[in-house]
Amino acid sequence: MQLTDAFGRTIKSLRISLTNRCNLNCIYCHREGETRDIKNEMSAGTIANIVRASQVFGVRRVKFSGGEPLMRDDFEEIIKALPDLKDISATTNGTLLAPRAQSLAESGLCRINISLPSLSPEKYRKVTGGEISRVLAGIDAAVDCGLVPVKLNMVLLKGINDAEITKMMDFICRYEGKIILQLIELMDFRETGNYKVNINEVEKFLESKASEIKERAMHRRKKYFIDGVEVELVRPIDNSHFCANCNRLRVTSDGRLKPCLLRNDNLVDVNNKEPEEIVELLKLAMDKREPFYKG
Ligand code: 5AD
Repeated sequence: MQLTDAFGRTIKSLRISLTNRCNLNCIYCHREGETRDIKNEMSAGTIANIVRASQVFGVRRVKFSGGEPLMRDDFEEIIKALPDLKDISATTNGTLLAPRAQSLAESGLCRINISLPSLSPEKYRKVTGGEISRVLAGIDAAVDCGLVPVKLNMVLLKGINDAEITKMMDFICRYEGKIILQLIELMDFRETGNYKVNINEVEKFLESKASEIKERAMHRRKKYFIDGVEVELVRPIDNSHFCANCNRLRVTSDGRLKPCLLRNDNLVDVNNKEPEEIVELLKLAMDKREPFYKG
């Protein structure tokens, strides 16, 4: 039995928000599509129940996000409480990671994505409000603790980091294949239209540099191999392929199933529910799923 929606899309992974809280304030942040402040964060037990219920349908992958997931002091406990899975990952800003990379790896975290919009300390501060040296320490700790491949998420911002792609590839090259670069098209959640980069041009640039190009099944994302560095281009906007291949189901930090990043009118509450009930609610969430960009 699988979780498949009316558009033939089968859920392969859960993307679970652990909190709305964050220690940074990125100019572009989509806050995982959550609009209000959430106070009642899910317990480790509730999270384990949701994951267990999804396992009934063969879901074996979980990604934790936020806000900033490391704002949760019990992140390690949350991971330890999970049933056996194929892949447990997290998306973090990396600033709080260095002291906890080891304990997270020991708890069962497999790999990590770290947001890094710029390598320039000034630009990093301008975009995020944070201190880049802490992120760089977090990246090193993640690599050292085997949370690999580390994916660096670089949301492309015109006039800020669009001329920095080569510099970022040079930085990553030093890590000898343990870091992958993800270039992400900006989604305009916060009147950031001025920062929109022409993604076709980025694609052309990558094509001209790549020795090899592959297409991933997920979202039909393209992967470029450039001077020993793996670069992935994520194009969510107006991309019916992106939606047609969406195989993830989101969970908000207060325990509601969220069938689409870009909608908030179709959430399904599973907080404090028994696992058997969550199994039924997962099916209900499937009825509410439809591609945002239909093509
Ligand atoms: N557009 C595209 N990607 C975004 N992210 C956050 N906000 C946006 C946005 N407006 C991505 C970043 C971050 C992850 C949590 O979500 O890649 O690393």
